[in-house]
Amino acid sequence: MDNKIANTLFIPFAARIFAAEHFSEYFNDKTAIQLKSHIPQKFLKISSQYEMIASAARYHISDKKIQQFIDKNGECNIINLGAGLETVAFRIDNKNAIFYQIDLSEVIQFRQQILPPNNNEILIAASMLDTDWYAKIDKNKPTLFIANGVFMYFYEQDILNLIHNIKQNFKNAELIFDATTKFGVKCANFYVSRFGEDMAKMYFYINKLEEFATKSQTQILSSQTFFTEARQMLWHKVNFITKFNMWLVDTFNLSYIIHLDLK
Ligand SMILES: C[S@@+](CC[C@H](N)C(=O)[O-])C[C@H]1O[C@@H](n2cnc3c(N)ncnc32)[C@H](O)[C@@H]1O
Repeated sequence: MDNKIANTLFIPFAARIFAAEHFSEYFNDKTAIQLKSHIPQKFLKISSQYEMIASAARYHISDKKIQQFIDKNGECNIINLGAGLETVAFRIDNKNAIFYQIDLSEVIQFRQQILPPNNNEILIAASMLDTDWYAKIDKNKPTLFIANGVFMYFYEQDILNLIHNIKQNFKNAELIFDATTKFGVKCANFYVSRFGEDMAKMYFYINKLEEFATKSQTQILSSQTFFTEARQMLWHKVNFITKFNMWLVDTFNLSYIIHLDLK
């Protein structure tokens, strides 16, 4: 694809397939497994067990949070920023929620060929940094924005502008995204570079969440480490390196899922 960030979309997609095939009690995704033949082979081979689980942990956590949001709010919007080949609308097949999948037009075109939208799902070809596409959404409904594996490829000012635009236009919105520290971004850049030179670099990190909340004028609803449940559920099934890395990342708070109130 022309956009270097778009080239990264197979990395989490492969991880969801790996997790669903090996650890379905932790993360299950039948739709992703059905699409396995569309993934270039290298994406299925390069990542370690730990790296696959680290990627899948985001969806394990955000799926639960999406379900809670729907249970609490009833009819609502779930807006997935930088959706890639995310199959969340198939995993959470709930009539109350409409899932809007936002991604660049080359990605949406590719997605339409291999993954036609579910009946609770609308694909929108647009940059999440623009605002024209907001007109396609009923802004009176409670709205949850999700960004998994996306924000780190941008600069902090891009993310602050995006949050500002959402706050201006959606009066009842929340945001869930994954973030890491400066050190974590260095590690993540090394990991992604192993997939080739056509992969994008990452820039955005959060060392102090409170400072970011102040800058973005948002309220922290929660911030949770990646592997609390993975360590409970998979401890006896994963190898030593995976166990050690999960412990390390959780203990030193290197990566977390952040839930912000944008009201
Ligand atoms: C690492 S992938 C993550 C995909 C998906 N969220 C997932 O978890 O599988 C990053 C995604 O961000 C998308 N992206 C990059 N720039 C974008 C932009 N300005 N607006 C919307 N999506 C963008 C890419 O095309 C790609 O699909």
